[in-house]
This record gives sequence, structure tokens and C-alpha cells, in this order.
Amino acid sequence: MKPIVLSGITPSGKLHVGNYLGALHNFVQLQNSGKYNCYFFLSDLHSLTESASPIERADHIIDIATNYLAAGLDPKKSTLFIQSHVPAHAELAWVLNSICPMGELERMTQYKDKSARMETNAGLFTYPALMTADIILYDAEFVPVGDDQDQHLELARTLARKFNSRFGETFIEPKALHTATPRVMSLADPLKKMSKSVPNGCLFLDDEPEVIKKKIMSAVTDSGSEVKFDEASKPGVSNLLMILSAATRHGGQAGKTIPELEKEFAGKNYGQFKAAVAESLIPYLAPIREKKAKLMEDPKKILKAFATGDKKANKVAGAKLKEVYEKVGLI
Ligand code: TYM
Repeated sequence: MKPIVLSGITPSGKLHVGNYLGALHNFVQLQNSGKYNCYFFLSDLHSLTESASPIERADHIIDIATNYLAAGLDPKKSTLFIQSHVPAHAELAWVLNSICPMGELERMTQYKDKSARMETNAGLFTYPALMTADIILYDAEFVPVGDDQDQHLELARTLARKFNSRFGETFIEPKALHTATPRVMSLADPLKKMSKSVPNGCLFLDDEPEVIKKKIMSAVTDSGSEVKFDEASKPGVSNLLMILSAATRHGGQAGKTIPELEKEFAGKNYGQFKAAVAESLIPYLAPIREKKAKLMEDPKKILKAFATGDKKANKVAGAKLKEVYEKVGLI
């Protein structure tokens, strides 16, 4: 049996290159490797913890679903589904909430960051228990994510272990899988992660070539003039070097390495370097933008691509939930 890979993206805004380079691109690679049994979903229940209007939320769901398909996820190769269409996620989350120590949730940095920025709600606090349910319902062994999700993955392992020791062997402890770009930084503030909830600083996957150029040329860089990778003293340039390295890969082939790029740009100034970053990114992202625009002509068809996956996910997750209910004594 092939190992199970599972991951999701929350429809809380448009996708940016961080989401792509840290997660979505890897979903497609893992799917196409043929080595895994892949599940990819839209974590729409998670989006309820943020305050989008119903119309905005529905738009984000369609937008991310379209990006999944435009980036190359294929319902014939992967199980693609929508979290809210599989009730077992919310049900298992309740069971996990009931065994999860408060202290584990209180130390989550994402919760701390978000609660400093917005009004908190109970969903935001217990979000990692729902995320754990998303993963362990499917016996997922590997979870491709950016490094901002590592703490949540650690909790998933803790809760799986805790459940197993109290109620008997039931769940697998999942591991995170990272790309070479597990944390793309904001173009406006390279000390902060590029984030959907802070659109200023994001390069969106469907940005037009002119917009890409403008955003990269005005990306915050550092004092000095040398194009050198040094995250401590040159976070802006280092971020662009990582993005450029990723954007020079073609198909399944690796891109130029950071030392190769440093050599290529020795003696060149930041303006020349940024122009090259934009020039690589434009053709790198164009196929996704173009495919997305085409798919958007028929939005109903997009959701249909998730219907078979919804059914399969319900079957797999429903069986696991039944086992859980029996083990905890719900008769
Ligand atoms: P979300 O929607 O915030 O982000 C989706 C994926 O993109 C990664 N990512 C980044 N990677 C590199 N650089 C960045 N700047 C960057 N920003 C985001 C994230 O790490 C993530 O992999 N809680 C999750 C969604 C989720 C999930 C799950 C993931 C819900 N249930 C179960 C895996 C398994 C989230 O909100 O990701």
C-alpha cells in the first residue's frame, strides 16, 4: 500500500507565491510522483474563524479550488475534496478537543499572533484540534506544508499518541514535508511571512505580468548593494534569491541553486537583480494564471471536480470516525 499524503489550504484569501512554493507546488509534485495515495482538500471550516462575508468566503472557496486544478491537481490522480462536505472532520475535532490539554492550545504561536491582530473566538483557539482531525482521519503519514504549520503538526502527533495510549492503537503520527522554500517572506516586510491576511506584501498567483514586475521592483531590500544570501543581514535579498531559485526550475527539474545565482549576480546591482527575478517569475506563473482564467469561465464545473473526492473522503473518514466512537464508548 502506498503511504498517504494529505494537505489542505484555507480559503481565507487569494493564494500567493508563498502558498504555492511552500505547499501547492509540492502537492502537485507528490501527486505526479505516483508514489503516494494523495488527499488534498479545501479547509473551508477553518475559514469560519476569520471574518469574511458569506459572499467573500464562497468566492475564496471557488478561487482556491480553481487554483488547485490550474496548478495541476487532478481528481483522477488525487482525492480532492471540501472539508465541510465531510462531517467526520468536525465530529472528530470534538472528540480531540475533549482530550486536548488547554495548555497545548495556549502555546500555539499562530493563535497568539492572530489574537494580537484580531478579535479572538473559540474556533480560532481550537483550530489545531480540527486540523489534527483533518489529518489523522485518513491515516496520513506525510503532510506537505510550509513551516508555519510545524507546531500544528507537532500537536497532531501529540493528540494521536494521547488517543492511542488512552483508547488503543487507532491513529498514525503524521510528519510534515517541506520544500526548499518553506517560508516565503513578505515583499513589504521581509522579516514577516508572506500571508493571505496581509495582502500588502503578497505576490498573488494570478497577478498580471505588469503587477508582478511592479511588486518585485518595489520589494523591500536591504542596505548595501551585494546580491548575497544572508537571512540575518539581508532578509529581503535572501527572500528574492529563494524565490528566484524556485522560479528557475522547469517541470520536475531543480532550478538554479543559491550559490549559482550569487555568482551570476556578482557585481550587478539590486535593480538588475530584481528585474531578473520578475523576468523569471512572469513565465513561471503564467501557465497557472492562464489555466485559472480558462477554468473560471465555468465555475460549476470546478466544484464538480471535487464531488467524487467528497464521496471517497466521506467513506474513509466515516469508517475511522465509527472506529473512534466505538473505542471511546459512544454506543
Ligand atoms: P494556509 O491556508 O494558511 O496555507 C496553506 C499552505 O501554504 C503554506 N504557506 C506558506 N509556505 C511558505 N511561505 C509562506 N509565506 C506561506 N504561507 C502559507 C502553509 O504552511 C500551508 O501549507 N491550517 C492550514 C490549512 C489546513 C491544513 C490541514 C494543512 C487545515 N487543515 C491539515 C495540512 C493538513 C492553513 O491555514 O494553511
